[in-house]
Amino acid sequence: MTPRLFKFSTALATLVVGAVFVLSPAQSAELDQRAGQRDRGEYIFHLSGCVGCHTDKKGGGKFLAGGRPFKTDFGTFYSPNITPDQKTGLGDWTFENFQTALRDGVSPSGENYFPSFPYTSYTHMTTGDIKDLWVYLQSIPKVERANQDHDLNMPYGWRWTVTIWKALYLDKGAKPDWSRGRYVTEALAHCQECHTPRNFLGGSKGQMAFAGTKRNPEGVVIPNITPDKKTGVGKWDSSDFDLLFTIGMLPDTDFVGGAMSESISHTTSKMTKQDRQAMIKYLKQLAPIENRVKAEKPPKTNDEEW
Ligand code: HEC
Ligand code: HEC
Repeated sequence: MTPRLFKFSTALATLVVGAVFVLSPAQSAELDQRAGQRDRGEYIFHLSGCVGCHTDKKGGGKFLAGGRPFKTDFGTFYSPNITPDQKTGLGDWTFENFQTALRDGVSPSGENYFPSFPYTSYTHMTTGDIKDLWVYLQSIPKVERANQDHDLNMPYGWRWTVTIWKALYLDKGAKPDWSRGRYVTEALAHCQECHTPRNFLGGSKGQMAFAGTKRNPEGVVIPNITPDKKTGVGKWDSSDFDLLFTIGMLPDTDFVGGAMSESISHTTSKMTKQDRQAMIKYLKQLAPIENRVKAEKPPKTNDEEW
């Protein structure tokens, strides 16, 4: 191709491409907006970790078709199908139904959800993020799989008891004054669902936020992640956090396991660098709380503080 001809053909191509957009600006703008919403929704979906709970990976279940069991002090919960299937999923839900579920913990028929669905965190999501998330969820493959009943101990099997619980513990709504770091950590990544101990009613103990617990229903120790130097992560620097949240490695070069490795693979490793750094900054400025949950490590000679 001679240079001249080349120039001509690029000019032509530009004209043709330009023409497509000129032909239907309204349509393509709507498509773009929808695609943008879907992509943003997918990002919110990752950050809020819906996939781990709503996919029964161990049981070979399909993407978001539910059925994953959760052992709690109150019995075993089974997550529902949240694919857009008409019969067994969210196929006939409206956006308002979805928003009410996340923000108020209430089903389309007006029943309370149990807080094993972490709406106490998602209640703080912005309406824009809930809308984008909804567009994404409507775009995933439908799977027909009927929901399973929970297997609960009385009296916690009575959904109405959740009303009392909500009055005590649900602090509803988006928080416009939160920093991005706080929003990512608390509203989306729901780190407190594990790292803040619960009282006997299952409510989070606010004054122990992020301070960990010796026992959780699955029998594992949940570390204290407040910046307390002795019992928390006060000695960690930003790069220690960054390594954990990207590849799951701890400062002593061990790799984390179980529940935390899920949070890393589903959530923190999918964060943009900016969001991860905002979260780390937020964690580092939390009030240090002295709460020993892990056994003390034998002192190392080269581990002295400067
Ligand atoms: C820690 C596990 C967990 C996470 C994380 C989680 N869910 Fe759920 N979800 C549940 C459980 C358990 C229920 C059932 C609650 C009940 O029956 O009271 C539920 C219920 C729901 C329902 C109600 C479905 C119905 O048929 O009534 C919707 C919708 C939902 N979740 C969407 C989501 C979305 C979207 C996300 C991510 C933003 C998410 N969930 C994250 C465990 C989880
Ligand atoms: C489903 C429960 C769960 C969730 C959600 C969760 N974690 Fe963890 N986290 C754990 C467990 C369990 C460990 C201990 C893992 C191990 O040592 O193998 C842990 C370990 C950690 C550690 C290492 C602390 C230490 O002293 O070794 C940090 C830091 C941490 N989590 C931060 C977070 C942050 C930030 C979030 C939110 C993005 C989060 N976690 C969400 C359960 C959870």
